[in-house]
Amino acid sequence: MAVTVFPITDDFAAEIGDVDLSRPLSPTDWQAVEAAFETYSVLVFPNQSLNQDQHLDFARRFGPLETSVYAISQSFDKLRLKPEIADVSNIDDKNEILARDSRKRAIEVGNRLWHTDSSFKRLPAKASLLYCREMPPVGGHTEFADMRAAYDALPAETKTRLTGLVAEHALMYSRARLGFTAFTDEERRQLPPVPQVMVRRHAGSGRMTLYLASHAGRVLGMPEAEGKALIDQLLAHASQRQFVYTHRWRVGDLVMWDDRCTMHRGRPYEDLRWRRDMQRATVSDVAPTCEQEGVRIAAE
Ligand code: OGA
Ligand code: MN
Repeated sequence: MAVTVFPITDDFAAEIGDVDLSRPLSPTDWQAVEAAFETYSVLVFPNQSLNQDQHLDFARRFGPLETSVYAISQSFDKLRLKPEIADVSNIDDKNEILARDSRKRAIEVGNRLWHTDSSFKRLPAKASLLYCREMPPVGGHTEFADMRAAYDALPAETKTRLTGLVAEHALMYSRARLGFTAFTDEERRQLPPVPQVMVRRHAGSGRMTLYLASHAGRVLGMPEAEGKALIDQLLAHASQRQFVYTHRWRVGDLVMWDDRCTMHRGRPYEDLRWRRDMQRATVSDVAPTCEQEGVRIAAE
């Protein structure tokens, strides 16, 4: 049976049925999934049963995979999962719920801010594939914001003003918003601020999109306060209700999203009480965003 595509919203989220991601897809099914990913930014594959390798094998068909930041930095405890899988759970390597004062728990809170994955890397993410193994009974949803729709809704003057602007993104910037500054020198060296265009053309659809995250901290060529105010204004604009799809997870859901034209955030839950086991594979984009857009960065 061929895959079925059920739109959840007109052109932002869709559910993909009649497909078993634990096995290689037929060429027709693969084409249907790829086509759906050009139109929709969020694809929901319900009822999957995947081990880590099957999850990674499916993700790898979309491009080269990232190594998780938890594997890059030496300052985390032993990894529970393979280095290509970002462990977005509240569970440690002994299969216990993370302690209240755990460092990983403090960093993980950053996922509650609107962001797009790996925009703090020069080569950011193209797509993320998050797989749900355990869910708390209450809360823990994930929200997705449609940055193509948010761009379309901007006044013409704002669109003009944003053209060619570059923001600096860093993991430290988003974590600083939450008062977390305890980065090691090694982490500071490995994750320095990187430039990202604020507006880009989405490769799949050709549509223009905002490109933004809470990782953005400065706008190049702008006084610091003015840049921050612009970033916050755009984050608020893009996360308005009409641009947001909320995913309420069921165990076995694999949700794939397009990091080039969306933002997402995790919603709170009682994480000291309930287990939430989420595992993410992340596909790299093809080139840094400034390179893709042909934006040259003037030396400051
Ligand atoms: C992620 C992420 C949010 C969530 O996996 O990249 O931000 O709801 N997750 O777990
Ligand atoms: Mn994320």
